[in-house]
Amino acid sequence: MRILFLGDIVGPSGCEAVRKNLQDQIKINKINFVIVNGENSADQGVGITEKISKDFFNCGVDVITTGNHVWDQKEAIDYINKEKRLLRPYNLISPSPGKGFEIFSSKNGYKVAVLNLMGNIFMKKCNDVFDAAKDFISKNKLKKDFDFLIVDFHGEITSEKMAIGHFFDGKASLVVGTHTHVPTNDARILNFGTAYQTDAGMCGDYNSVIGMNKENSLNKFLKKDSKKHFPSTGEASLSGVIIDCDIETGLAKNIKTFIYGGDLVNTN
Ligand SMILES: [Fe+2]
Repeated sequence: MRILFLGDIVGPSGCEAVRKNLQDQIKINKINFVIVNGENSADQGVGITEKISKDFFNCGVDVITTGNHVWDQKEAIDYINKEKRLLRPYNLISPSPGKGFEIFSSKNGYKVAVLNLMGNIFMKKCNDVFDAAKDFISKNKLKKDFDFLIVDFHGEITSEKMAIGHFFDGKASLVVGTHTHVPTNDARILNFGTAYQTDAGMCGDYNSVIGMNKENSLNKFLKKDSKKHFPSTGEASLSGVIIDCDIETGLAKNIKTFIYGGDLVNTN
């Protein structure tokens, strides 16, 4: 079982790279299931719309996760209740529309569970992520309730992400971070069989400041005249991980970083 996870898709150039390349990459890499983080995919680089979600599903995406920007395009508040393939962080303060966890059927007949968590440090206020993870794991078990479990941990700091990776070790197929828009070079299998990478990186133009126009972003830091942040428009790199999972255990046999197109050094 081979699963592709792509990090935060940023703005029109990130969406274009998905439209242009994802179907080919699914075939070339023999991918059975695709998850993307779409919370920065709208034209402004924040939030997600119904049209963009549908485009992703039409390109072969099975599930879209999000994070702190999930509601930045207001239509998502209604749309998420109609579309179970769009998730928001599980530990948002209730009541919040939508769901943070769902079990999906893969085209090759397996139950793939996806859990979307959000960190607490330097992030918008949400419920304690370790309490939420403990509660989740007491109610949901790999191989009993689903064949594979993918955890998107949307967070700012590496220590919190690494700790949640160890928390889920042996209980999830993959724990991967999102939100920082920079891929980390620490893909590995943890001691008890969970694949892990601290951040998947973004699907966006890396000739930028985390996907946003670099001149405008720099001007903000220099306290010069600047506009509201807007996405950079150069060719995007797709960035994420591919994992191979054992069908008997649901755990990972292999993980590799996946980078395709744009300015980043490509992995394949
Ligand atoms: Fe984010």
